Amino acid sequence: IDLAARNTLRLPARAQWWCEVDTIASLRDTLAIAQSRQWRVRVLGGGSNVILPSVVSGLVLRYTGQGCWFGEWLNEADRLLHVEAGIDWHALVLRCCDAGWWGIENLALIPGTTGAAPVQNIGAYGVELSDVVHEVHLIELESGAYRILSSAQCLFGYRDSIFKQALAGQVVIVRVVLRLSRTPSPRLGYQGLTHLAEQAALSPRTVADAVTALRRSKLPDPADIGNAGSFFKNPIVSLDVIERLKRDYPSIPIYPVDSAGAKVAAAWLIDQCGLKGLKWPEGVGIHDRQALVLTHDGRGNAEDVLALSDYIAETVQGRFGVVLEREPGFWGELPAH
Ligand code: EPU
Repeated sequence: IDLAARNTLRLPARAQWWCEVDTIASLRDTLAIAQSRQWRVRVLGGGSNVILPSVVSGLVLRYTGQGCWFGEWLNEADRLLHVEAGIDWHALVLRCCDAGWWGIENLALIPGTTGAAPVQNIGAYGVELSDVVHEVHLIELESGAYRILSSAQCLFGYRDSIFKQALAGQVVIVRVVLRLSRTPSPRLGYQGLTHLAEQAALSPRTVADAVTALRRSKLPDPADIGNAGSFFKNPIVSLDVIERLKRDYPSIPIYPVDSAGAKVAAAWLIDQCGLKGLKWPEGVGIHDRQALVLTHDGRGNAEDVLALSDYIAETVQGRFGVVLEREPGFWGELPAH
């Protein structure tokens, strides 16, 4: 099956085998078949954080369950919401906001599925998914066992979780349980949202709409041009390095992390190297409004994207001595299991 329309970078890719399942029983049946035929299994969500090679061997699996139901009240205001992995993330954000629930409004317009959201701990405008995750439910690829991880067990970090580390390539996330609140809790600290603080009777939908407008003004829509959002993480560097950078570049944007290090804006580093808007061969390039976003118009392939990515990382390292880490995963590199 052709995966070009199933990854937001629009890379040309074919899966040897493809299967969509919407129940735990059919998921287990499919995993058993894959095991008996010794196919490697990979799980695809919305394809918005992957770099696909032209041929993906083995089985590419998608869990499409669309269930969504409320669970217990944690107190008078906070309640659990069970969301199956196949639900589109942004559609979920709008549903929750329109029903008056606070918690995920700052994460509006992030492409991808709910099941993929915990993997990289999606985050934007001062909120990370980990702030509202109660549990993640998953199926182990090898044993078919159903497991429930608490938020603490997910080992969430900045753009990181156990699903990118110890459990990488070993599980299918089938459900995410969120903790939402009726109590208004607007988080408007991010530049571009602060003006909303003056608004009376703010609703979660108003915040989501403001975030949506902000994202539309900076980030390209994958429907218009292939991209995978931020292509690099904002690097966390030691305070010694921060001191050096601040001395040489007083305007450098820095975000505090802890007593050992701080985050530097990768977009700023790339921009300062004069790379914003760069056109690279085969239709790949750097977006002209956000230097952290790589674009692809459909003419290139994974090698072209990776070559540009390496060029950017080398240029930034040469100029600033800071190492950039790629955000989307390249499926050509995954270890066999
Ligand atoms: N900047 C530049 N040049 C640019 C773009 C930005 O110098 O071309 C500077 C800005 O002036 C600002 C700083 O870089 O001082 C940070 O830029 P921005 O606020 O746009 O955010 P970011 O750090 O580049 C992160 C997330 C985004 C998220 C935004 C908003 C990462 C890797 N990216 O970007 O997430 O939407 O903050 O919270 O942490 C994604 O992961 O796909 C994504 C879009």
